Amino acid sequence: MSDGLKLDFLGDLKRTHDCGSLRLSDEGQRVLIMGWVHRRRDLGGLIFLHVRDRAGVTQAVFRLEADSAVHARAEEIRPEYVVGIEGIVEKRSADTINPAIPTGEVEIVVDKLWIFNESKPAPFPMEDDVNVSEEARLKYRFVDLRRPRMQHNVILRSQIALAARQAMYANGFLEIETPFMTKSTPEGSRDFLVPSRMSLGSFYALPQSPQIFKQLLMVSGFDKYFQIVRCFRDEDLRADRQPEFTQIDIEMSFPQQETIFATVESLVIAIFAAAGVTIEAPFIRMTHQQAIESYGIDKPDMRIPPLVQVGDLFEGQGLGAEGMPMVAITIPKTGALSRKERDEVKAFGVEKGLRVLDDLKRLDRDMPEAMAKVRERTGATEDDTLMIAAWPGEPKGQRPTETFYLAAGQLRLHIANKFNDRHKLLDPKDLRLLWVTDFPMFEWNEEEERWVATHHPFTSPFDEDLPILESDPAKVRSKAYDLVISGVEIASGSIRIHRRDLQSKIFAALGFSMEEAKLRFGFLMDALEYGAPPHGGIALGFDRLVMMLAGETSIRDVIPFPKTSKGTDLMCEAPSPVPDKNLRELGIQLRVKPKE
Ligand code: AMO
Repeated sequence: MSDGLKLDFLGDLKRTHDCGSLRLSDEGQRVLIMGWVHRRRDLGGLIFLHVRDRAGVTQAVFRLEADSAVHARAEEIRPEYVVGIEGIVEKRSADTINPAIPTGEVEIVVDKLWIFNESKPAPFPMEDDVNVSEEARLKYRFVDLRRPRMQHNVILRSQIALAARQAMYANGFLEIETPFMTKSTPEGSRDFLVPSRMSLGSFYALPQSPQIFKQLLMVSGFDKYFQIVRCFRDEDLRADRQPEFTQIDIEMSFPQQETIFATVESLVIAIFAAAGVTIEAPFIRMTHQQAIESYGIDKPDMRIPPLVQVGDLFEGQGLGAEGMPMVAITIPKTGALSRKERDEVKAFGVEKGLRVLDDLKRLDRDMPEAMAKVRERTGATEDDTLMIAAWPGEPKGQRPTETFYLAAGQLRLHIANKFNDRHKLLDPKDLRLLWVTDFPMFEWNEEEERWVATHHPFTSPFDEDLPILESDPAKVRSKAYDLVISGVEIASGSIRIHRRDLQSKIFAALGFSMEEAKLRFGFLMDALEYGAPPHGGIALGFDRLVMMLAGETSIRDVIPFPKTSKGTDLMCEAPSPVPDKNLRELGIQLRVKPKE
């Protein structure tokens, strides 16, 4: 910092313009702008400053011959100083016009300058294309957010929230708040707990979603609810997961599944439009079973070709397990794989339990007719990776063919991701939307050796599957659906159970004792006895949507103040130990020494 620099007060100064709005039509006007010094170019008698705010950048010029005192002050300015600049708008000479910026035809010839604050040299340049570690970016997030890409993402996020609200209000929905300090809501993760000082030894849970409250709002008659709302989940983090994240949460009374799809489609169209992307409804639909059989995953990425059934072509050749399907995996334009690459890919498949047939030369030699048909069915060319996956041994799992398809699906994605850098198979701008419907009601949890709800325990089973609820849980389908964009689960929802008798049955099928069910969800069970209407809804992952529309691959880049993958905030240094006094007030004694 320069000791001698005299800083100015804002006093009663007001901006006449932001830094993005001056045009040739403003020529000759006296204007006053304020902002950060983006760049300074000192040519001796002439100093150029680029002054930046979130609206853009404007060039200011200081001429020694016109005003030597102001020019001398401009010499003291460094990047990221905060300044006010007053002067006359002039047309730039033809050779200095900058067509890259909207204000590029003009500059302000400065006769008054205020320096409101100085700045240490920024920890990294304010440009997008410099390599900065994420650690540094998150520690100095307030500076990182000044960079054009982050400015764009945060502004886009705000515009998308506005578009979402407008679309929901236009469709007759009300935004209604639900509590953050509440009781556990089951979405399959751990809760963040908040100790209570007034009820020592008791805890609030931060909501994993407003699920139960939105259902209660239906019981209360607010038949079209939405909320852009923060949710909290203590789970392992990834590029598309944060411990606190935002949902566009929706619930409706008396809806058909179609009603919910139509609502979400109009919402998503409005959101995409806010980001300048045009899409059309209705979106593609696929049942869960079709998704599994065609893509080996419940969130198909349709930017790469599906799995293709080829079992019938190899019948009687002893290549796979009896009664289990075989599929061909085609990944386009990878070129011929090296031996090492093939071995690695194959090892990945084998590790997932698959038999992987990758030696095409040998297959072509031994089974030329079958292979010709495989090529015909898949459309695979010499330029593509083609492999065949089979299940080698005894069928495994509660839904054995699903186990196979999931393994084949993982292999398919593994190859696509492995060669993505080399061949740009997965263009982040290529957004493919689809609904996946008719999810199975239950999933088998190997560790706990019991059925758990695939969606959540308030999801309604298919009416016609009720008779097999206990006898054949693996086959029970549910009225649950997901919206998937290019392989990312963007939204998830269901038609709910609105009758107490059925809700009790489902809790029982999930292995909750009646006492446990009452203890955890008693208030919901009660509410179902007071005229609960048929209802259903969905929640969209807001951060994930913004991420995709911003062309980012991590939600951290569209959240102003995110946590690291370890759940920490590097800027505030949270979480952090608290003084013993605070713990005592809460009746808490630690069993572990806090991490420094
Ligand atoms: P679900 O748990 O599937 O459903 O969540 C809905 C959507 O929220 C997003 N999401 C996340 N985004 C970022 N970080 C996370 N940790 C995270 N977890 C979930 C995903 C997901 O599709 N109450 C139900 C909805 C309903 O039934 O109406 C629910 O929360 O995009």
